[in-house]
Amino acid sequence: MSQNLFEGTEGQMKDLLKSINAHRGEAGALMPVLHDAQTIYGYLPAEVQTVIAEELNVPLAEVYGVATFYSQFSLTPKGKHKISVCLGTACYVKGSDKILQAIEKELRISCGECTPDKKFSIESCRCVGACGLAPVMIIDGEVYGKLKPDDVAGILDKYIKD
Ligand code: FES
Repeated sequence: MSQNLFEGTEGQMKDLLKSINAHRGEAGALMPVLHDAQTIYGYLPAEVQTVIAEELNVPLAEVYGVATFYSQFSLTPKGKHKISVCLGTACYVKGSDKILQAIEKELRISCGECTPDKKFSIESCRCVGACGLAPVMIIDGEVYGKLKPDDVAGILDKYIKD
């Protein structure tokens, strides 16, 4: 079963429809509505994309295409603590895939997912300009470098206790 079950509230749907109504009929309505939806939900669940497509009368494929094209949009929920593992070349050759695996094992979720308690989410990224510290991961903007898989549990521990 997916870890990322969608749980929208009535209030969120009301806000989404308000945004849709404010932009309905405009030529470029999709972008501002997706922006608002991202702010309202923190990401763009498939269910929300479907509502937007139906309400704005645009194909779902177009909504999905825009949502995946722009990096400011996310299709998966984010946790309180956002973990990003660099899979750029310098980090990859130094074993960042093993770091990612260690995080996935520790949190029992896959890259791109959020823990059921919404405390952590994991994603991968490309070079963050800290190649000298490879392999690198970033948690809530803090950079951890020269990592070994065995370091992961200890680092996550302080966020688990938080
Ligand atoms: S490749 Fe990871 S920081 Fe550059």
